[in-house]
Amino acid sequence: MFWAGLARIGFVLDRTDQDSNFARERSAKIMFYPIELNQMSQIIRAACLSVLMLSTVSAFATRVDNFVLLDQKGDAHELYYHQAAPSVTIMVQATQCADSAADIALFQQLAASKKASGHQFYLLNPSLQDDRVELAAWAETNEISTPILDDETQLISESLNARKAGEVIVLDPQTWKVTYRGGIAQANDAVDAVGTKNEIASAEYAGCPIAFPQAAKEQHAQISYGQDVAPILQDKCVVCHTEGGLGPWAMSDYNMVLGFSPMIREVLRTKRMPPWHADPHIGVWKNDIGLTAAEAQTIVHWIENGAPRGAGSDPLAETKFAQVDWPLGEPDLILDIPEYTVPASGVVDYQFPTVANPLDTGVWIKAASVKPGDREVVHHILAGTIDADTTDEQRDRLEFDNYLIGYAPGNESHTFPLDTGVYVAPGGEFLFQLHYTPVGREALDQSKIGLYFHREKPKNFYRQDVVVDPTISIPPNEARHKQVAYYEFDKPALLHDLVPHAHYRGVASKFELELADGTRETVLSVPNYDFNWQRTYEFVEPKQIAAGARLIHTTWYDNSAANSRNPDPEREVPWGLQSWDEMLYGAFSYTYVDETTEAPIHDDAFANSSKFVGFLDKDLDGKVSWRELPKQFKKRLVQGFSAVDKDGDGGLNIAEMQVLTQRMREGREREQAEKEPATGAR
Ligand code: HEC
Repeated sequence: MFWAGLARIGFVLDRTDQDSNFARERSAKIMFYPIELNQMSQIIRAACLSVLMLSTVSAFATRVDNFVLLDQKGDAHELYYHQAAPSVTIMVQATQCADSAADIALFQQLAASKKASGHQFYLLNPSLQDDRVELAAWAETNEISTPILDDETQLISESLNARKAGEVIVLDPQTWKVTYRGGIAQANDAVDAVGTKNEIASAEYAGCPIAFPQAAKEQHAQISYGQDVAPILQDKCVVCHTEGGLGPWAMSDYNMVLGFSPMIREVLRTKRMPPWHADPHIGVWKNDIGLTAAEAQTIVHWIENGAPRGAGSDPLAETKFAQVDWPLGEPDLILDIPEYTVPASGVVDYQFPTVANPLDTGVWIKAASVKPGDREVVHHILAGTIDADTTDEQRDRLEFDNYLIGYAPGNESHTFPLDTGVYVAPGGEFLFQLHYTPVGREALDQSKIGLYFHREKPKNFYRQDVVVDPTISIPPNEARHKQVAYYEFDKPALLHDLVPHAHYRGVASKFELELADGTRETVLSVPNYDFNWQRTYEFVEPKQIAAGARLIHTTWYDNSAANSRNPDPEREVPWGLQSWDEMLYGAFSYTYVDETTEAPIHDDAFANSSKFVGFLDKDLDGKVSWRELPKQFKKRLVQGFSAVDKDGDGGLNIAEMQVLTQRMREGREREQAEKEPATGAR
């Protein structure tokens, strides 16, 4: 039952009754995943170090390396995702090359005729003259249905030697080698020939040339390790890639960087590192750690040129990054989260330890920081407080009275917006939810949380909530399943930050603001969501929310076998805490424009109904119709629905839902009261 979990702050991370057989069966496959990763990176690390000098262009020439690019709509595409496809065909495109229009039309026809048999087709745009908005408009006008990959750094096109609009490049996913290169006339035969003994001869292609101002090898030879490359690494990578840091290896000097250079190139091409996955075209973020296009070009061109040491000092060896215990400074209060021994393998149930609040006065918290004891096993920690009157049931359901911070790697600290805070009254307890993932050795974890207090009462409440749908169900083998829910605001507010969250099958995530007049604005898009990284995206300028506006959260799940993280594509996946289940869960924080700590205006009942309507209202028309109600509610409501539907429009809006929830709660309490004397429970 998730209902009660929606109360209060609404962190509905219910403990699901785990089917223990299922858990056991799956554990082998899933829980060893981190070990595999770990071992793999060690093996690769060893390999990298032993072939130090192989990191030259020639090593990249034989096969097309993996990449991730966003298309004109902002959707991410990964080349190696198509491993099982019979072929992948790319046509180079640039809107200024009008001559290739007829060829593009033929390419579209070819794509349409081969799609059903699993062949993949992309347009690839390396042109610096086209931006995404222009590409989207061009695609619309020309009725282009093939995704146009927007190669903004030109790095992917350079390495593919894709320099002339209209040129077709056919790849064999078995080897990732180019099997054909030339005009569209031969493309059909070339696609058919992939994986057969036939060969369609490539031909020099005389298409419309596209400018590549950064591609000249002589320029790459000018890139200095000490002056150009190392400073970028220091700025964007070393915070984690340092001794004892979060990253699996330390960028401690030139030799380490050289050894890892093929991998650095790969993680930049696939947008895996730095771990910042927001679409750079949407939103401006306080904690943006992404690379600029120029930075990515500098590093990759330097690597492709053999990663030479060059003259001068080695900044990475000379200035060491200082690891500090508490990045925000010495906390006002440090709490030891009760220690826990994580077994070497198997599935560990979520832990919900508490610590009695040691303070005898109320405090306003302005920031929190989590220090995981053993980083390898701590998957995430949620921290908040519960009042003295919290029942065991509420505690089990993780119903925080105040939510403080969600830790995951890369999300260690959170400072609330200026002059806002979370009030923690004396008494009560701090409550934690810890998710551990065994890593092949027994590990004793002793994590800590540091809290920072306001000296004076802040002006406003820092409020946090979630857009959730605990009724989700993801069909087996579906590659792009979408789930949507929303939260409607009853008062003008400022939106401060967003946290998309999903599990192994989550591949993309989006938040939009919809005004009462139906206009929508995307405020965050994470087109290649990475389960390893649970990031908070903090706006530089808080987003203004009008009364009646909705925050719509969408997540796409890949439950197909092509998703390498998917533990079981045959399974219909329900909501659940563990990573092999799924969540539609988008956390957000806000302040009310008209609220002060002297005069609170938050309406709990409204907030709960808003959330509830927000996931039941599948057609987003603002009310829950009978058809949209899940079965379990229908049964209870056969007579009640129309009684609650005061305006008689066949659907329940948020206000009507409030009445309904009140009635259901009373009903449940009555049932409970009737049961108690009979069972003698509690
Ligand atoms: C917030 C911390 C963080 C930052 C910043 C960061 N990394 Fe990483 N990096 C990690 C972690 C953790 C992993 C392993 C898990 C993963 O790949 O997601 C990793 C993995 C890697 C790997 C793969 C190594 C392996 O053994 O799998 C490379 C290469 C890498 N990072 C390079 C970089 C570069 C280059 C930058 C800067 C442009 C960077 N990282 C920034 C934390 C970070």
